[in-house]
Amino acid sequence: MSASGWLTQGPRTVEFERLIADYLGVPEAVATDNCTTSLQLALEMMGVRAGDEVPVFAVDPHVEAVDVFGWTVDPDDRAIFLQNLLRFEVTDIVRPISLPSERACKAWDGEISMLWIDGDHTYEATKIDFKGWSRFVPSGGLVLFHDANDPEIGPFQVIGEILEAGGYRELLGINSLRVLQKVAAGA
Ligand SMILES: C[S@@+](CC[C@H](N)C(=O)[O-])C[C@H]1O[C@@H](n2cnc3c(N)ncnc32)[C@H](O)[C@@H]1O
Repeated sequence: MSASGWLTQGPRTVEFERLIADYLGVPEAVATDNCTTSLQLALEMMGVRAGDEVPVFAVDPHVEAVDVFGWTVDPDDRAIFLQNLLRFEVTDIVRPISLPSERACKAWDGEISMLWIDGDHTYEATKIDFKGWSRFVPSGGLVLFHDANDPEIGPFQVIGEILEAGGYRELLGINSLRVLQKVAAGA
């Protein structure tokens, strides 16, 4: 196995790390052998330590609507969501805000290290979500867009405008998820 060059810090692993770092445009990449180690490292890098709690604020009014995919959302979703929080014992971590995004952001005043935009996927609403919340993301923070690969709907179009305006770079895409990083304060 060591002859393969892939074991721990064998030459192929080092080359693989170099290629990943170059691809992402970052100084270093560290290959690990399992997801737990990777997640642990990512949390350490973000400054999260044992015992820290990282709250997740979930903004959704759960009112009746039909989204851009033709799917219906309604107030029953709120009950299902709250039941799931209880079931998975995460009520201390996930804090629901039952308001439309455009109203909730007006009362917000904290820093957001990771902003996940996955609401109304029209161009107008996605733009409002981004403008309303991204000002709370610090330099180095992340903005994630779901359903962001379809050129016909809002997230794809808004991401195009963001990248063109500068101040963000695209870190990666996983299926329909795209991850941007703020690189300039005030962007
Ligand atoms: C595709 S679902 C995603 C929900 C959640 N992010 C998930 O992954 O389960 C879109 C959600 O956006 C919500 N939504 C629609 N308009 C909204 C708005 N103005 N502010 C906040 N949420 C909104 C809908 O109620 C719906 O639950």
